[in-house]
Amino acid sequence: MIRGVGSYLPEKVLTNAELAKLVDTSDEWIQQRVGIKERHIAAEGEFTSDLAVAAARKAMAAAGVTADDIDLIIVATTTPDYTFPSAATLVQMKLGMHHGMAFDLQAVCSGFVYAVATADSYLKNGLAKRALVIGAETFSRLLDWTDRGTCVLFGDGAGAVVMDMANDEELAAGRGLLSSALRSDGHHWEKLYVDGGPSTTGKTGFVRMQGAEVFRHAVGKITDVVYSALEQANYTVADLDWFVPHQANKRIIDGAGAKLGLPPEKVVTTVDLHANTSAASVPLALSVAVADGRIKPGDLVMIEAMGGGFTWGASLIRW
Ligand code: ACO
Repeated sequence: MIRGVGSYLPEKVLTNAELAKLVDTSDEWIQQRVGIKERHIAAEGEFTSDLAVAAARKAMAAAGVTADDIDLIIVATTTPDYTFPSAATLVQMKLGMHHGMAFDLQAVCSGFVYAVATADSYLKNGLAKRALVIGAETFSRLLDWTDRGTCVLFGDGAGAVVMDMANDEELAAGRGLLSSALRSDGHHWEKLYVDGGPSTTGKTGFVRMQGAEVFRHAVGKITDVVYSALEQANYTVADLDWFVPHQANKRIIDGAGAKLGLPPEKVVTTVDLHANTSAASVPLALSVAVADGRIKPGDLVMIEAMGGGFTWGASLIRW
């Protein structure tokens, strides 16, 4: 069960107009192609683990728990503070914890969906009692600010959820995480990757993307895992109350929604104000939709994501 959701966005907002001063682009081009108006950018000295901790504290407050109650921390991130240790152990330290286990999960934009399914397995197998699952990114640090094809697409942020096992009453009501479908295919790695790393260049590198290729694969792969998660739990698209997709760009979200036959009002969209925050995008969108009262206890919610690797996945949750 998801007990609480929280999020954090860095203070600095970078608008399309400001970006147009850095590269040859325009507000009109960006809004038309990807539906992004602005993004948040982490301040100098503000690291992924800081964003993660800020979101985690809000999720724990919403769940009515403290760090003492958490025994598993998973941070889904592509932009850890250091090559090692994991951002998750830094979060653990910053929360004042000495107990439990913490690790990072790297599935790029699909990281949060992978992490929710992973935490659920740990909980169901008795390896942990209560999990803090965080998606946190300072993706701006991986951007080549001279490449207009990528730098306009991404932003920084973090979102977090507290998860534990559903109790008997909740189980009887069919609540909790009902199903997940996770996929990857490494043959597509060069379509979206960062051209550096500890074992190759010894440097962090920058995001490189074949945008049209990513677009071409996105809608089909997303809808495939959404149908799979629905089928496993014996539901159909018509049963969904909310569709909370990875916020990569509005055309992909609209394309997936249309292919699934979902009414646009059931689709949660935050890409206009957050841009693509990679692993943080789904928990950020969840946080917005819970805070504004759209997602309520008992609602049937589908989360999904697709990203570098390629990786893609979906989870169906009875809230
Ligand atoms: N501003 C103005 N012009 C631009 C910009 C920009 N920011 N970026 C590219 N262009 C130009 C190109 O240089 C090209 O110009 P040319 O015709 O003179 O050569 C023209 O626009 C068309 O370029 P394309 O790359 O063909 O544009 P396309 O219509 O494919 O749109 C886009 C590019 C928006 C990136 C699209 O391919 C897309 O949405 N892809 C999905 C990528 C994505 O969302 N990635 C996120 C990570 S993956 C994930 O999270 C799912």
